[in-house]
Amino acid sequence: SSEWKLKPHPVLPSGKPCVVCILDGFGENKYKDEYNAVHSARTPNVDKLRENAERCRFVQAHGTWVGLPSNDDMGNSEVGHNAIGSGKVYKQGASLVDAALESGDLFKGDGFAHVKQAFEGHTLHLIGLLSNGGVHARYEQLKQLFQGAYEHGAKRIRLHILTDGRDVPDGSSIEFVGQLEKDLEQLRAKGCDALIASGGGRMHVTMDRYEADWEIVERGWKAHVLGEAPHTFTKALDAVTELRKLPKANDQYLEPFVIVDGEGKAVGTVQDGDAVVLFNYRSDRMVEISKAFEYENFSAFDRVRYPKDLKFAGMLQYDGDLKLPKNYLVPPPFIERTSGEYMVKNGLSIFACSETQKFGHVTFFWNGNRSGYFDEKRETYVEIPSDKCPFNEKPDMKTREITEAGIAALKSGKYDLLRINYASPDMVGHTGSLEATIRACETCDECLGELLAEVDKLGGVYLVCSDHGNADDMVQRNKKTGQPLQDANGVNMALTSHTLAPVMVAVGGAGLKDSVKMRDDLPEAGIASITATFINLCGYEAPSDYCPTLIKTD
Ligand code: 3PG
Ligand code: CO
Repeated sequence: SSEWKLKPHPVLPSGKPCVVCILDGFGENKYKDEYNAVHSARTPNVDKLRENAERCRFVQAHGTWVGLPSNDDMGNSEVGHNAIGSGKVYKQGASLVDAALESGDLFKGDGFAHVKQAFEGHTLHLIGLLSNGGVHARYEQLKQLFQGAYEHGAKRIRLHILTDGRDVPDGSSIEFVGQLEKDLEQLRAKGCDALIASGGGRMHVTMDRYEADWEIVERGWKAHVLGEAPHTFTKALDAVTELRKLPKANDQYLEPFVIVDGEGKAVGTVQDGDAVVLFNYRSDRMVEISKAFEYENFSAFDRVRYPKDLKFAGMLQYDGDLKLPKNYLVPPPFIERTSGEYMVKNGLSIFACSETQKFGHVTFFWNGNRSGYFDEKRETYVEIPSDKCPFNEKPDMKTREITEAGIAALKSGKYDLLRINYASPDMVGHTGSLEATIRACETCDECLGELLAEVDKLGGVYLVCSDHGNADDMVQRNKKTGQPLQDANGVNMALTSHTLAPVMVAVGGAGLKDSVKMRDDLPEAGIASITATFINLCGYEAPSDYCPTLIKTD
């Protein structure tokens, strides 16, 4: 229909294949030293792109540029792919939850009313990430949630906590649990029966994504719902302290645990009629556990016992297509008229590919948090199964396989736009291993070279970018001097989280008109401007309400 019609670009032709390649977590950091894996890695192909100053620039990928509350908030793949896919900046979960708590609307909505039904005679369970990272959840929000729930009548509250170490430094779980214990102590002093009931590390318990490994969710179900885990403790602080001492243990991969009373009985199993709230706002890692709670018919693992008449809600609705969960405390951002929908409605064909860990990023997040296709006939989504191991052990991940799939798709001649995400700079960066992350960046660069060579061969065009920083800084630093922080043993402390760094955007390809250059009138641009840019590369003008294109053609 006419309202979807894109105008042909006055200068750039359509009909040439366009590859948009995202090097996930590949930022341009101000610290250009040996702890910057992007800088330390041998990356001749990226270097060549960077050296062409007329066709390469850096854009912001964090904070308000991607809809987060403040410019101290690092970017992440959810908000990054939302921005790159939709061409606009939407207030994101982190901002929306802050606002709903601030105004009190969270406690006035239908979602909270649903949960509240259980407050008389039943328990309220809060399950989620104990963190200040601001990517999936934030401690201040959790605190306001349990305090508010108490003020609105919750008499018995149980917390099921997932330790982070991925969006915040490893080892910080100890402080977070300490803080939570203090705050629950105060709540108990007011007469609320509030306790930590179970937990585990986010990468090992509950927070799987894209069905990479359902056993992760099963461990969570057993600990949170059934009160079963290989380790029991009477205090959560002991649990975290002791479990961190196990070989290879860290916050991300902490073993599941259950808190028991003096008789060894779990203090907070989920019973018929209880309320369960998942307090993370970000969706990818909440979808599977939501299904386990919400779906009567469920076969991903044996739940053993499925509590009846649960009052279940998410902080947000995690999947708008599946309406999952039915009940939620805060309405999610409503992202519409994304680039993918425009393209298929203008007759273009799309190929999207990554490995499991980032597959939903180039599909679901890219499409404004939609789980299906806009037009199955015009879209092909390919998922390469990820390994199931800590990724520093196999830092190439599936970069080569993704490249092969991308090249095959290019050669098929079937697609106008090809979206490729290389997961490894980010996923390996999260392990904190500098050496492995350098290797990840080098393999990506090599594969990128092969991919772009194929684009050139076919007379196509490309845009290479990233969604946020990560691999570009692998140590925690003294903010003033920039020197690495060291632990008591004099060892540099790893930075496992994303960074605030801007990211590269480079355009090129044998099919790109010589006149195409980066504009110089948008010094403050963010990654949402990538969208209009690749729409131009495909031969069209972007919708007028999209963030401005980064390129000019005169
Ligand atoms: C994760 O979920 O792995 C991290 O919290 C954020 O990483 P991502 O935004 O790159 O997926
Ligand atoms: Co990441």
